[in-house]
Amino acid sequence: MKTTIDHELDVLLRFRDAVGEIHGSEDLCMLLYSLVKREKPKIVLELGTGLGVTAVWIGRALVENGGGRLWTFDDGRFQDSFLPQALACLEELPEFRDAGVAGDDLAGYLHKLLRLSGVAEQVTYVDQAIDLTEGVDDLMPSEVRAGQGIDMLFSDFAHGPGDILDLLALALPYMSEYSSIFIDSASTYLLSYFMLEQVIDQLNTGKLPHRFSQGRTSDERQRLLQLIAERRFQLVHLFEDKDRAQNSTTWIRVEPVQWSPPPTAKVR
Ligand SMILES: C[S@@+](CC[C@H](N)C(=O)[O-])C[C@H]1O[C@@H](n2cnc3c(N)ncnc32)[C@H](O)[C@@H]1O
Repeated sequence: MKTTIDHELDVLLRFRDAVGEIHGSEDLCMLLYSLVKREKPKIVLELGTGLGVTAVWIGRALVENGGGRLWTFDDGRFQDSFLPQALACLEELPEFRDAGVAGDDLAGYLHKLLRLSGVAEQVTYVDQAIDLTEGVDDLMPSEVRAGQGIDMLFSDFAHGPGDILDLLALALPYMSEYSSIFIDSASTYLLSYFMLEQVIDQLNTGKLPHRFSQGRTSDERQRLLQLIAERRFQLVHLFEDKDRAQNSTTWIRVEPVQWSPPPTAKVR
């Protein structure tokens, strides 16, 4: 007999098959699911919820982990371009059709999706614009403001070189000692690819990129420099062999500067 959990997993798989390709996240959602299962992050942030494919799979992993939380942000600015297509696909799935998602805007759709997928406890959708020129402080959940680090940050809303530099400068002070930053599509945007190759090298030699300094007080610059000096950064370009635009995800692993594996590793 199928349990509620089996049923929710079925719903998630069918949802992924129906909607995942619209934003090209049908495989990335599984990768993120696996990493969340393995590393058990407590605090995860997603910038750009889109149709919620990655959000529900991260949420599902958090449910299976028995803890952790995802906050995901989107102001629905692309909804007219993508939501009708998703809703048409979901008309084929009885759970979604019966829940009446077809009449919803992005916020209504996402709230129903999180509930139907059984991840509503773990995932909070925030209907909010992300404006890096205003900083990211107002995106931070109370736990992070209270000093807990972000363990995983997935940015899927902008991937130009300036956006990435601003995001790194703003987010690094909030990241846990051991953490990961994913930026979708950045590795297949040539300027961003070259910029990342350079900037990650610079960070690893303790240099502060000029854009990190702009608009910051000398105290803020010193704190950022100190933080960068105490971290090492590993850059991995993840490409997928699928013939479609933007078929990449950048992974930046952040770790303290030390010679041993993380405390979670059972080293012999
Ligand atoms: C590629 S989609 C995210 C796809 C998502 N990962 C998924 O699996 O369905 C990017 C989303 O970012 C949102 N977005 C783009 N710029 C934004 C901004 N400045 N503030 C808030 N949301 C934004 C768009 O509304 C869009 O839904």
